[in-house]
Amino acid sequence: DKGNHRHFMEKEIYEQPEVISHALSQYVDFVSNTLSANTAAIDFKSVSGLAISACGTAYLAGLVGKYWFERYARLPVEIDVASEFRYREMPLSPTQAALFISQSGETADTLASLRYCKDNGLKIGAVVNVRESTIARESDAIFPIMAGPEIGVASTKAFTCQLAVLASLALGAGKARGTISPDQEKEMVRHLAEMPRIMSRVLNAIQPQMETLSRELSKCKDVLYLGRGTSYPLAMEGALKLKEISYIHAEGYAAGELKHGPIALIDENMPVIVIAPYDRFFEKTVSNMQEVAARGGRIIFITDEAGAAHSKLPTMATIVLPNVDEIIAPMIFSLPIQLLAYHTAVFMGTDVDQPRNLAKSVTVE
Ligand code: F6R
Repeated sequence: DKGNHRHFMEKEIYEQPEVISHALSQYVDFVSNTLSANTAAIDFKSVSGLAISACGTAYLAGLVGKYWFERYARLPVEIDVASEFRYREMPLSPTQAALFISQSGETADTLASLRYCKDNGLKIGAVVNVRESTIARESDAIFPIMAGPEIGVASTKAFTCQLAVLASLALGAGKARGTISPDQEKEMVRHLAEMPRIMSRVLNAIQPQMETLSRELSKCKDVLYLGRGTSYPLAMEGALKLKEISYIHAEGYAAGELKHGPIALIDENMPVIVIAPYDRFFEKTVSNMQEVAARGGRIIFITDEAGAAHSKLPTMATIVLPNVDEIIAPMIFSLPIQLLAYHTAVFMGTDVDQPRNLAKSVTVE
């Protein structure tokens, strides 16, 4: 049932504030503002490192997770798409743990990567939506994302719920390893707790602007997304979402890679979507934006209030989100990315919920 929405994808985008609170309620205690025992189902204190593998959007959630585990828990992370991971013959040690991220819990390559890790004696954790899935069944610890059924082939709410769970786990790992203090834990959990309310506000506030901008995007043949830090996987997610439902060619790049190739593509016909909250990467990303502007590129700047106040560059459009803590920024910045892809596809008249050639669950390699 789509409710008042035209597509399941739209419904699932607007469901995010609600399902994110379900996801978080599994991992944090909102009364004491502490992380709950569920974040300790893997003994993060004693592991030497973490291997993460997944496909598509779930892989990009894992890539954001890598930044978090390394920063907040000082835990080294090895991550790869499952189709490579399973065949790389990567040396692994039983002192490592492994995390597999999958909405369906049935993705063939992810399952094969899981079995590879299991054969190497690693403890296995599964971040899944479907708890009765094969990946969940074969894992030592299950971390449900509680997103509810996701019908739209393009993943939206599963992605942000995966992020919410990974953020909680990374903080849980930090707590276990003593790299975040009890005060920091409380503060971070408070930020996580604020997320559903901020998401609702943002979804309502940006909707009209997203529709207007999507009309422009629907006229384009190519779109480039740029970001740094956790905004880099978001740039790739934005490009993936746009290409899979609107069939417009899009690429996501690390902002710092611009001058190593993609800058050759910059002209007035290819919009560049720059994702840059006012974080410690901001100035660097803005200087990459400058390089785009100097070559006549049209910029769609997705930033926050502080970022908007600190950049004087001319843009085609600036999407201004509220200032939020770094730990929740990836989830909040996912919203304009999803809505841009969604409305662009609607303008193009594609089958948004069932894009051509794609299946919701990829059970063959
Ligand atoms: C993109 C998308 C896919 C899936 C990928 C993994 O919007 O939905 O890239 O993320 O096929 O699927 P799961 O998470 O079921 O393993």
